[in-house]
Amino acid sequence: MSSQVSGHLPVADDRAVRRYVAQLARRHPRMLYGALSLHVGAALAALAAPRLLGDLVEAVQNGTTTGHVDRIVGVLAAFLVVQTVLTRYARYLSQVLGEQVLAELREDFVDSTLALPVGVVEEAGSGDLLTRTSRDVDQLGWSIRMALPEWTIAVVTAVVTFVAAISVGWWVALPCLLGVPPLVIGLRWYLRRAKDGYLRESATYSRINATLTETVEGARTVEALGLGRRRIAAADEDIEASYWAERYTLYLRTVFFPNMEIAYLVPTVATLLFGGYLYTQGEVSLGAVTAATLYVQMLIDPVDRIVSILDELQLGAASLARLLGVAQVPDDREVSGREPAGEQLEADDVRFSYVEGRDVLHGVSLDVGVGERIAMVGPSGAGKSTLGRLLAGIHPPRTGAVTVGGVGLVELPLDDLRGHVALVTQEHHVFVGTMRENLVLARPGASDDDVRSALDAVDALDWVDALPEGLDTEVGSGGRAVTAAQAQQIALARLVLADPHTLVLDEATSLIDPRAARHLERSLAAVLEGRTVIAIAHRLFSAHDADRVAVVEDGRISELGSHDELVATGGSYAALWESWHGRG
Ligand SMILES: Nc1ncnc2c1ncn2[C@@H]1O[C@H](COP(=O)(O)OP(=O)(O)O)[C@@H](O)[C@H]1O
Ligand SMILES: [Mg+2]
Repeated sequence: MSSQVSGHLPVADDRAVRRYVAQLARRHPRMLYGALSLHVGAALAALAAPRLLGDLVEAVQNGTTTGHVDRIVGVLAAFLVVQTVLTRYARYLSQVLGEQVLAELREDFVDSTLALPVGVVEEAGSGDLLTRTSRDVDQLGWSIRMALPEWTIAVVTAVVTFVAAISVGWWVALPCLLGVPPLVIGLRWYLRRAKDGYLRESATYSRINATLTETVEGARTVEALGLGRRRIAAADEDIEASYWAERYTLYLRTVFFPNMEIAYLVPTVATLLFGGYLYTQGEVSLGAVTAATLYVQMLIDPVDRIVSILDELQLGAASLARLLGVAQVPDDREVSGREPAGEQLEADDVRFSYVEGRDVLHGVSLDVGVGERIAMVGPSGAGKSTLGRLLAGIHPPRTGAVTVGGVGLVELPLDDLRGHVALVTQEHHVFVGTMRENLVLARPGASDDDVRSALDAVDALDWVDALPEGLDTEVGSGGRAVTAAQAQQIALARLVLADPHTLVLDEATSLIDPRAARHLERSLAAVLEGRTVIAIAHRLFSAHDADRVAVVEDGRISELGSHDELVATGGSYAALWESWHGRG
């Protein structure tokens, strides 16, 4: 169903895209068929002209009155008005339908993006997801708003016009068919090369941007090391690659479009010649030849649009495939509906790998007592953060289980999980929105009193009340700026609202400005009060004060016990302790 390149989000295949498009079309049958019938009506009204002009030629040839000519011209004008009005409403309805479909698509995409397992997002990198949310959504928006309605109109018009042309006489089909081979051959030649050509072209643009940004961002380094010439040479190379990529697509167009012109002209000329021949044989009237030629001539425009929009639609389909791919990432949670019995957190023989075949945790077991404080120490890269993320349910273990009250963390819906155990790191995001919105996202439905007492608990109520509009103050990018320490307090207040019984701290305050650190540690201490805590390399309560210390080395818990026990054992912890305190 999908092709998952390691490190990239999947891309849906053609079948999945077709299935989704069919399903979208079925969601709004009335608007869809309404727009289609209006388009057919408009196309039919447009067909009157050649017939009437044919009649006119016939009448003039046989001798007629000016009154008759005026009448025909009057009818012509009436049809033109009808066509204009129908076209207007057909387009209006198509646009409304397009916007509706686009809005639904966006919602589907947001849903599937938010449902992505954290591990998948991390592995793919935010770049891919960002490109999909921005460039692919834009591209698709363009296709649905502009290309798809235009294409539908063109197809309807072409079909209706062709039917009208052969209704003049079956012989008209023959010249029309003559145009098909050059059209099909040209189109196949072009489409087979165009997609790669244009993809390569945009890749060279990205490359130019990347090199340029790198040079500008690293300007000091470039200057310091005298890399100027080399950077210029690199930019020149990128521009040259881009030049050749553009030349290639230009070549494709210079072959393709003239070829298409011929494919369009052949039927018109053939109709004239063939019709003229039939007329000299007395098989058809002059009016019929006129009408047939005009119809065939009228076919050129919609066919040309069908061909040129096909390109756009292909790009739109590629974007849709990339957007749908996001929904195809398998969920790493299996909600079971079982309720945890108690607050006991337990890891049982847990193994985990980021890269297939390379475990970074090798069978870790840990029973965390309710209300216990565990300090996790060990060398960098030993797997402390990884174990912390598994204990907080962010990654599911490859084998083994992490349970709370006997229920696996992966079995809990995300909203419930956060009420049991939460991970606290030094990354804090303030979302665009009001202060209140930033807080209640941790507990939807929380009252202002709840929010205020949560802020009070982390010592943040004073400065929030001092904001111009209090809880209604807009924060986040574009809103009022908050300091890093304030952002961290917001995060802590969210924790108070979510009220998990267990917290995993991963160097939670280690990057904070030392002047703010004291204050923050007080806030943090208030949040820790009455909860079970697993703290990784944290100075708030030193390993010395923890109930137990877990030493993580090489993906295993190598020592576990109270500070005094571990010092008495004389293992790695004792050595570490000694080197810190320089005893002896
Ligand atoms: N996102 C990741 N992708 C791949 N490997 C990772 C990732 N995060 C950590 N690792 C690897 O897993 C091992 C344990 O890392 P980590 O849990 O961060 O250790 P610690 O927190 O003890 O320093 C290291 O070898 C590290 O390189
Ligand atoms: Mg770490």
